[in-house]
Amino acid sequence: MNYAEAEKLLKSCGQEHVLAYWKKLAKDERRDLLAQVAALDPKSLKRCAAALKTGGDTFDSSKGTAPKVAELAGAERAKAVAAGEKELRAGRVAALLVAGGQGSRLGYDGPKGCYSIGPITGAPLFYFHARKILARTIRYGAPIPFYVMTSEANDAATQRCFEENDFFGLNPKDVFFFTQGMWPGMTKEGKIILDAPGHVFMSPDGHGGLLAALKRSGALDDMKARGIKSVFFFQVDNPLVEIADPAFIGYHVLQKSEYSLKLCAKRDPFEKVGMPMQFGSSYRMVEYSEMTKEQCLRKAGKNLYFRYGSPAIHVFDRAFLAREAAKAMPLHLAFKKIPFVEDGALIKPTEPNGYKFEKFIFDILPNAKRAAFLAFEPKDEFSPVKNAEGSDSPATCQADLQAKWAKWLAAIGVKVPKGIPIEIDPVYALDATDLQKVGLALGSE
Ligand code: UTP
Repeated sequence: MNYAEAEKLLKSCGQEHVLAYWKKLAKDERRDLLAQVAALDPKSLKRCAAALKTGGDTFDSSKGTAPKVAELAGAERAKAVAAGEKELRAGRVAALLVAGGQGSRLGYDGPKGCYSIGPITGAPLFYFHARKILARTIRYGAPIPFYVMTSEANDAATQRCFEENDFFGLNPKDVFFFTQGMWPGMTKEGKIILDAPGHVFMSPDGHGGLLAALKRSGALDDMKARGIKSVFFFQVDNPLVEIADPAFIGYHVLQKSEYSLKLCAKRDPFEKVGMPMQFGSSYRMVEYSEMTKEQCLRKAGKNLYFRYGSPAIHVFDRAFLAREAAKAMPLHLAFKKIPFVEDGALIKPTEPNGYKFEKFIFDILPNAKRAAFLAFEPKDEFSPVKNAEGSDSPATCQADLQAKWAKWLAAIGVKVPKGIPIEIDPVYALDATDLQKVGLALGSE
């Protein structure tokens, strides 16, 4: 792209100020700016500017009802596990990790997946995810391809972390990195923000950027070529997640669902989690900010009526993802402090001054022809690392990891004294039953 082409593109969407400092830019700054402009899509820019006028895509949840949530037990659970194990043995299951976030609340300088969480080894979050996938691959004798979404900002460091750790034992041929998209930040008036005279401020387009990125990178084609049917989706910050849990995969397949969600009971009526609601024959994720106080407090017997929140643990039908990847997703606005250039000087605002645009993966829920909801016990499967301190921090996550392992050890008669750290490699034991087998084997030596 040359200057004239860039000017034409920017003029077509009212953003010609992006070239305001052109005359003062060095040769390589000009080249980089032209590359940034070439990557801008005028149609998307107009959509962003229009979203600012309407306040983004918001939703009236007042007519929502609570969906039916399964609590699998006994024979029903066994049936789901058998169906899931069949899928895993046939190699029809993939794991999909979104790891493109900025982790700003944790304040860690690097990809969140590289953050050290192992209570003894200090192993990173990626280690626990990859080793669980490896353990299931060994258990079921078929690969589980691992698709890892990164962002421009953390892609190189993420790939380096895998390489330096020999892919944590996984076959590199079964690990597929792909990068999510970036969107420019805008002022309240819908003007693109420059964070240097020759540079547009860009931020990741949210975990919903996943769909376009899966398509663009060829990951969807790769899944199809490998015969993948079910895609287990999870977030980087939760090392307790039961990746490709056979009961969940099996329930999803038996229900002929296109989009299945694991849900857990809210810890309090106003907990900040998304909540799936039913609207006639379809479902939609309603954000906590879109619920009224009455909805949050509504009771059904002893429990809350809207009892279950979503910790973003999903199973998707691959063909559903392919269908949705061709469509535009709703835009969500986040009002943030964005550094900007004024009269050639960089200013770091102390108050929010501009908008970032994000897409959320759960916005495709209403498009699913069939959806399924499965309750689970959060103590065993959910303890995210979000904040540096306090709730949902490394300290609470490590405590929850160790409580889970201590429970497994107690099941084989090992009582760990308080204060002694515990850590179990998922390849050594993926669950309590595995540990039981290892324990019995050791006992018989
Ligand atoms: P969060 O909403 O917790 O955001 O992401 P974050 O960026 O990790 O942390 P904060 O809000 O800046 O503190 C939930 C999951 O979605 C991924 C994250 O990597 C995490 O696994 N994510 C989020 C993306 O992959 N891309 C994004 O643009 C945003």
